[in-house]
Amino acid sequence: MKNTAPHGTSDFVVVANRLPVDMETLDDGTTRWKRSPGGLVTALEPILHDRERGSWVGWPGVPDTKVEPIVSGGIDLYPVELSSDEVALYYEGFSNATLWPLYHDVLVAPVFDRDWWHSYLEVNRHFAEETARTAAEGATVWVQDYQLQLVPRLLRELRPDLTIGFFLHIPFPPVELFMQLPWRKEIVEGLLGADLIGFHLPGGANNFLFLARRLLGLDTTTAGVGVRSALGKVTLDDRVVQVGAFPISVDSRQLVEQATDPAIVERAAEIRRELGNPRKILLGVDRLDYTKGIDLRLSALGELLDEGRLDPSDTAMVQLATPSRERVEHYMKMRSSIEEQVSHINGDHGQIGRPFVHYLYQPVDRSELIALFLAADVMLVTPMRDGMNLVAKEYVACRADLGGALVLSEFAGAAAELRGAYLVNPHDLDGVKNTIMAALDPEREQGRRRMSRLHRQVLDHDVHRWAQSFLGSLSPVVD
Ligand code: ADP
Ligand code: F6P
Repeated sequence: MKNTAPHGTSDFVVVANRLPVDMETLDDGTTRWKRSPGGLVTALEPILHDRERGSWVGWPGVPDTKVEPIVSGGIDLYPVELSSDEVALYYEGFSNATLWPLYHDVLVAPVFDRDWWHSYLEVNRHFAEETARTAAEGATVWVQDYQLQLVPRLLRELRPDLTIGFFLHIPFPPVELFMQLPWRKEIVEGLLGADLIGFHLPGGANNFLFLARRLLGLDTTTAGVGVRSALGKVTLDDRVVQVGAFPISVDSRQLVEQATDPAIVERAAEIRRELGNPRKILLGVDRLDYTKGIDLRLSALGELLDEGRLDPSDTAMVQLATPSRERVEHYMKMRSSIEEQVSHINGDHGQIGRPFVHYLYQPVDRSELIALFLAADVMLVTPMRDGMNLVAKEYVACRADLGGALVLSEFAGAAAELRGAYLVNPHDLDGVKNTIMAALDPEREQGRRRMSRLHRQVLDHDVHRWAQSFLGSLSPVVD
C-alpha cells in the first residue's frame, strides 16, 4: 500500500469536516471505508484526482477512533479525531442544529448553546493544528464549509506563510438572520483569516461584505460582486481579503461518459421494467434533510393522485433518501413524517406489487444513480433552501439524450443558472402541482430544447471550471 506524504510536505491541502470516505465498522468488528455523503465530496474528489498529489484533512466519520493517515483514490488523507462529546456538541449541535438552520432561512429554529460554541471553537482549533502540521512551507490550503469557519484565522495565526482559501457550500444568510448569532463577530473574523472567501452566489458575498463593514467597521468595496468576476475586497491592516461568487458544479464530462455507457443505458431500461413499465417515472434524490422539500413534493403528488390528475397505474415515483445526521432531532422527526407520507400515499393509491412511491432510505452506487437519472422522465428537486443542489446539475449532465425534464425550486442556488428548468416556488403547493403536470407531458421538441439548454450550461460550467476560477483568484493580496 502507498504511504501518505510525510507531514509538512503537502503543497495543496483541502480541509473539510469529513474525509471523502467514512470509516464503517462491520458486525464482525472489522472496518472498511465507504464514500461520504453529500455534495462537497462529489465536487472536490475530481479536483483532487486531477492533481498529481493532493491532501485532505478531515474527520473519518466515527467518534473516539484514532486513524492513521492513508492514501485513498490517490489522495493523501489525514484524519482528525473527534470524541463522542465533540460529535454531539460541535457536529450535531453547533454545526447542524445552530448554523445549518440559521443559514437555511431558519426553516427550523436554530439553538444557541454556549457549550456547543466552545466545542466548535475547540474542534476548529484541532483542524487548524492538523492542517498546520500537514502543509508544506508556502502551501495553498482550501478550507471548506460552515463547520470550519474559524479555521482560516486560527490557521493563519499558526502558519502565516500559507495561502488560504475558504468556500461555503451552503447559503450565506440574509444579514437580519445572521445577526441573531451570539458569536457573529467571531465567525466573520474567523473567515477573514482567508485570502479569498467564496460563496455560491453574489447575494451571499454581498451579505458578507455588508457584515464586515457593519459588525467590524472594516473598509470594504461596496459595488456588487459578480459571478466569477468583480470580486469584493475587505481591507485589513496588513492585507486584503477578496470575496467572490463561484457557483459550484459537477464533473459533467465524466457523467456524460457514464450516462452513455451501454451497460448503464440498459440498466435504465431494466429499472423501467422493474417498476412495471410505467408511462412516466418521477424521481427524487436527496440526503434526508428538512431543507430538501421531500415532504412538499410528496404532498403535491398525494394531492394530484387524490384529485385523479395523476394515474397511479401509469406513473411511478422513486425517492432515494440518504441517511443523514440521524441523531439530530429535526432529522429524526423528518424521517418519520416522510415515511408516514409514503405509506399514506401507497396505502391509498398502490396495488399489490405496485406501490406508487418506491422509497429507499439508503445510498446507492453511482452507476445505479446514473441509470435512475436516465430512467426518470421528471426529476423533482424542490428544496425550501439549498446552497446549490448538485443533484439538479447531475441530472441534466446525464441527459445527453435530451430526454427528461427538471422541476427545480427557485430557492436552490442552481436555479440562478438553470433558467430553462421548470422553476417552482416550493411554498406554492398549487404552483408545484401544476408545474409537475406540465413537466410530465411537454410538447416533445420544446422539452428537448429546454434540456439542450440546461445540458449545455452544465457542460460549459463544470466543477473543473469552478475550481479553476476559485483557485485562479486565490493569491495573497498585500495592501
Ligand atoms: P447536499 O450536499 O446537501 O447533500 P447536493 O445535491 O449538492 O446536496 O449533493 C448531494 C450529492 O449526494 C450528489 O452528488 C448526489 O448524487 C448524492 N446523493 C444524494 N442522495 C444519494 C443516494 N441516495 N445515493 C447516492 N448518492 C446520493
Ligand atoms: O454542504 C453540505 C454538507 O453539509 C457538506 O458539508 C457535507 O459534506 C454534506 O452536506 C453531508 O453532510 P454531513 O457531513 O453532515 O453528513
